[in-house]
Amino acid sequence: MKRIVIAVDHGAFELKKRIIAHIEKKGYEVDDLGVFSTDSVDYPDMAKKACNAFLQGGYDYGIVACGTGIGISISANKVDGIRCALPQNTFAARMAREHNNANFLAFGGRIDYPESVEAMIDAFDDAQVSQEERHRRRVEKLNAMGKK
Ligand code: RB5
Repeated sequence: MKRIVIAVDHGAFELKKRIIAHIEKKGYEVDDLGVFSTDSVDYPDMAKKACNAFLQGGYDYGIVACGTGIGISISANKVDGIRCALPQNTFAARMAREHNNANFLAFGGRIDYPESVEAMIDAFDDAQVSQEERHRRRVEKLNAMGKK
């Protein structure tokens, strides 16, 4: 059974409920690290929570969300070992896994997407990381950029 970790800020409180319902419907386990109300919080704190939990191991991938998905994805990508994609549609969500070997998805609770967040999660979830040399090489270079 897949295990997913999720954390969002107040801008994605409603979206988080939808995402969790969708993931549970798929039969996966979700660790919900908040937020648990619409009280204002700082998105870097929520990104840090999800990323640190993910790096402890035991998760297939993580999901973060804020009002736009921008602040929380920037925050997640500052954590060494995290490759967080902010997909615009199902094509980008699939490519995030296949080409970028993303281990996190970010979404915006205040964004009108052309396709549903649920469909983007499914596209990512169903995709396989490409083993082609050029994609591996690019992800290796990307990983090396985060190392101090
Ligand atoms: C919070 O109001 C908002 O700034 C945040 O959710 C996010 O959109 C930032 O990128």
